[in-house]
Amino acid sequence: MKAIVHHEYGSADVLHLQEVPKPAPKADQILVKIYATTVNRTDTGLRSCEYFISRLFTGLFKPKFQIWGSEFAGVVVEVGQSVQKFKIGNEVFGLSADTFGAHAEYLAVSENGSVAHKPRNLSFAEAAAICEGPYLALNYLEKVKLGPQHQILINGASGSIGSSGVQLAKYFGAAVTAVTDTKNLALARSLGADVVIDYTQEDFTQRAHRFDFVFDAVGKSSFFKCKPLLKPNGVYFSTELGYLSQNVYLPLFTKQIIFPIPKDTQQQIELFKEMAEAGQLRAVIDRTYPLEDTAQAHRYVEKGMKVGSVVVRVV
Ligand SMILES: NC(=O)c1ccc[n+]([C@@H]2O[C@H](COP(=O)([O-])OP(=O)(O)OC[C@H]3O[C@@H](n4cnc5c(N)ncnc54)[C@H](OP(=O)(O)O)[C@@H]3O)[C@@H](O)[C@H]2O)c1
Repeated sequence: MKAIVHHEYGSADVLHLQEVPKPAPKADQILVKIYATTVNRTDTGLRSCEYFISRLFTGLFKPKFQIWGSEFAGVVVEVGQSVQKFKIGNEVFGLSADTFGAHAEYLAVSENGSVAHKPRNLSFAEAAAICEGPYLALNYLEKVKLGPQHQILINGASGSIGSSGVQLAKYFGAAVTAVTDTKNLALARSLGADVVIDYTQEDFTQRAHRFDFVFDAVGKSSFFKCKPLLKPNGVYFSTELGYLSQNVYLPLFTKQIIFPIPKDTQQQIELFKEMAEAGQLRAVIDRTYPLEDTAQAHRYVEKGMKVGSVVVRVV
């Protein structure tokens, strides 16, 4: 099969289209012929070792996994002997967050992993684009038990995690204030934001309003800058480690900041399917590349300015 393979960490130049053996599904696995995948900030961050600590998970000196790519949507073409939940021909989507491998024509995943039947109303590209951002946002919002009684500010509402965060926060019934630049204000409103703030015109941290939660989905602010926005028991959380990794150790000193380690499950992907079919979660797609141009997609994604997701078309 064709795959985008790498044997070292580094720039997007380490990525090459190659022929590699097709994976053989184990007893509990399904083999998915991938129609669409994405390049996300996890792919580019792990490839470039943006944070050295990521090597503890992906290989200290050389990458343990030769194919990046976590989000996928496609069709089941083989099933292992013990598989019960899926049949050949089923359209599925999901997340391979621990072992990656989705930048390829085929991927083997456990039937009990983060995979579900594709939402009926979404294309393969759209389905692939509603896995990682929503899963990361959900990990934070569930941790703080977000509900209708809460007011949340989401900074970076145009990114993959931020645009998912806005939609999930509305799903949980919270009042949402979204911070984006001018060109993405309409997008944030269309995703359900009640109030939008243009960060090119206004420093959102100077607002008099107080929030239960501030979610820095793009990691461009900090706990100390956002603290004045928090109610007395309000909580700040960020997708980034912050200056000197402060978001990791500050939770040892104050309950006003959390930094949960994300965990993906099949239930989450099933929730995203239900939400998509009910019109409560939609894919935001910036642009699409063919598989052979995956390195180009990496170069675009690591600029940090994509709106929603960047899709890679495999079929
Ligand atoms: N914790 C984790 O496990 C984890 C996993 C994956 C990613 N991440 C991190 O999470 C962050 C977000 O990822 P993502 O994929 O959602 O990002 P993304 O899709 O690359 O989004 C970046 C978006 O943020 C906007 N933006 C840039 N500067 C901004 C600012 N100062 N204020 C508000 N918005 C701004 C950009 O639009 P404009 O430039 O047009 O404003 C762009 O739409 C990244 O830093 C990534 O490294 C964390």
